[in-house]
Amino acid sequence: MENTKTILTFDIPGVPLLKQGKVRNVYDLGDKLLFVVSDRISAFDVIMSNGIPDKGRILNNISAFWFEFMKDVVDNHMITIDIDQIISADSRLEGFRSELEGRSMLVEKAQPMPVECIVRGYISGSGWKDYQSTGEISGIKLPEGLKQSDKLEEPIFTPSTKADTGHDINISQDEMKDTVGEDVFEFLKTKSVEIYSKAREYAGSKGIIIADTKFEFGKVEDKIILIDEALTPDSSRFWPAEDYQPGGSQKSFDKQFVRDYLETLDWDKTPPGPVLPEKIAEKTREKYLQAYKILTGKEL
Ligand SMILES: Nc1ncnc2c1ncn2[C@@H]1O[C@H](COP(=O)(O)OP(=O)(O)OP(=O)(O)O)[C@@H](O)[C@H]1O
Ligand SMILES: [Mg+2]
Repeated sequence: MENTKTILTFDIPGVPLLKQGKVRNVYDLGDKLLFVVSDRISAFDVIMSNGIPDKGRILNNISAFWFEFMKDVVDNHMITIDIDQIISADSRLEGFRSELEGRSMLVEKAQPMPVECIVRGYISGSGWKDYQSTGEISGIKLPEGLKQSDKLEEPIFTPSTKADTGHDINISQDEMKDTVGEDVFEFLKTKSVEIYSKAREYAGSKGIIIADTKFEFGKVEDKIILIDEALTPDSSRFWPAEDYQPGGSQKSFDKQFVRDYLETLDWDKTPPGPVLPEKIAEKTREKYLQAYKILTGKEL
């Protein structure tokens, strides 16, 4: 049986930690990386004090599902999520099977492109803010009179910078061309829109709206591949289709219970994040599990 203990933080002595994000730890194995997804959860950009049981394993498996699903459209960095293969790739990982199992992905190390490839099928978040003040997102003129969360006629590509600290800044397609060059721009845009469109159609047929999403790409030798995580609720907005109602913000498929709970608190949305009551954590776990089952058609 796989380890079901909630894991918020861990340490693999002797293996360099390349990066610790809000949710994942990335270890540097030389020409490969090891992504380990914790059970941490963030809301309003702040990490909560406790985790969501199984969230790490679920997110890892959702990403793996999409990498497999999309592999005919674009190459990706995934090597394996199989714990035996992961451990045999690097003997330093041997003592950490129970911490790593299910929540880890071995990937090809790439040189990340300096942009985030965001695709929006619905108008929400920073896109909605930009539209309200300028009528545009990333320099793309949109029709007048759109309501918050409206579906766009066609998905749009709205890149942003990849800031090391603070928030990413939306840039225009022309600015992205200046950064990565015309050919790479066209490639990233075409692939991003294609992957998003396929995923959205698939998820939509099962009751999950993928409102928007963020992809990252990287270079391995001369090839550009999809890296990072893909089409998880952490990198995308998942909305329950049955509650979809344009004209306001939407329920989050996965984090709604957390957000609703946080709104009842007198908390100023700065760290440290509060402790989520067990009931909220459990209900949230069920949402992640549900997303996993709906998308993959499998039990965890
Ligand atoms: N195959 C890869 N090769 C090299 N770097 C990669 C690869 N896949 C992803 N990365 C990089 O690894 C980093 C993962 O960081 P992570 O997403 O955990 O934290 P973050 O983006 O800083 O914060 P957040 O928690 O808000 O996402 C990103 O900078 C991403 O570009
Ligand atoms: Mg990230």
